[in-house]
Amino acid sequence: MMLGLPRTRDEGRGPSVSGRPDDPRLIDTYGRVATDLRVSLTDRCSLRCGYCMPPEGLDWLPHEQVLTDEELIRLITLAVRELGVEEVRFTGGEPLLRRGLERIIEATSRLTTAAGRSPITALTTNGVGLDKRARGLAAAGLTRINVSLDTLDEARFLQITRRDRHRDVLAGLRAAAAAGLGPIKINAVLLPGVNDDEAVPLLHWALAEGYQLRFIEQMPLDAQGAWERDSMVTADDIQKALAAEFDLTPTDPQARGASPAQTWTATARGRTGTVGIIASVSRPFCGDCDRTRLTADGQIRNCLFARDETDLRAALRNGTDDAGLARIWRAAMWGKAAGHGINDTSFIQPDRPMSAIGG
Ligand code: 5AD
Ligand code: SF4
Repeated sequence: MMLGLPRTRDEGRGPSVSGRPDDPRLIDTYGRVATDLRVSLTDRCSLRCGYCMPPEGLDWLPHEQVLTDEELIRLITLAVRELGVEEVRFTGGEPLLRRGLERIIEATSRLTTAAGRSPITALTTNGVGLDKRARGLAAAGLTRINVSLDTLDEARFLQITRRDRHRDVLAGLRAAAAAGLGPIKINAVLLPGVNDDEAVPLLHWALAEGYQLRFIEQMPLDAQGAWERDSMVTADDIQKALAAEFDLTPTDPQARGASPAQTWTATARGRTGTVGIIASVSRPFCGDCDRTRLTADGQIRNCLFARDETDLRAALRNGTDDAGLARIWRAAMWGKAAGHGINDTSFIQPDRPMSAIGG
């Protein structure tokens, strides 16, 4: 897959520092093409999941450092029109805390990609407050929604998220389905000694409700640096637990594409549906990664686990034109590392926790 060394001369379109001058897309030295843009709209959140944030929250980004709606729309427009981005996923923190969310989605869904299509617009949310926003989001053109829910038990939800909002999330899910935002995906993280017995009940529930459940291995992205490899609930653990209760047939691996989830058709008690496991740690999928990330304060990250970022906000605010911004973005992606290296002894957690990067 290696493309070899970059050509020596920049002929105007490509990154000025390095990169292939003739390709307008976000490519890297390993031949990967980033077509999936993750935009974090805020670092704030209505919950305090232990694997993501400390109970007291974090030092939130000062208002003036957060990109305005107009700035965000300009960068998203550039990514879709000029850089080959085909899917834009809005994340946080909690993206529903961003007032301009519907406006931003609407502006994004009106764009046309280089291939002449509408971009896919997607939202990853914790579901708190979704009951009141679902219709508006659908009207704004939202095409996909992922809701995070780790447990079916109210007391455990409070334990995991430090907020008593389990019912709100369930109400949000119902509203999303009623607004036509399906098929709804549910993201669940299993934590040792907390909800690691819920793989089976969560899947029974998801099949009954018609949600597509995906389990995500816990990654070292907590603000406290408390993640431990040895105690993590692994993809294998989850698969074994599910296989004891459900008939699992792997879905076509071709259909997986760059999606990080390994998926199965699961059947039990006369119900059938899809279940996925995202083995970010035990079976990394970095070789197929197609993501580029923009943080709420306008930094490009070429990987969730990148140790450095590229300041697009400064360039934007000092009057750089679109061609210049595109060059900076391409150069930021060109230097993307081969993999996250979580399993290497030299691994160092990124300085930002998950909530400030965007999932
Ligand atoms: N490891 C795995 N998943 C995480 N999420 C947040 N922090 C972590 C972590 N450390 C998940 C959330 C949400 C998505 C954005 O990422 O549960 O579903
Ligand atoms: Fe908020 Fe999501 Fe982090 Fe939980 S995991 S604290 S819902 S950003």
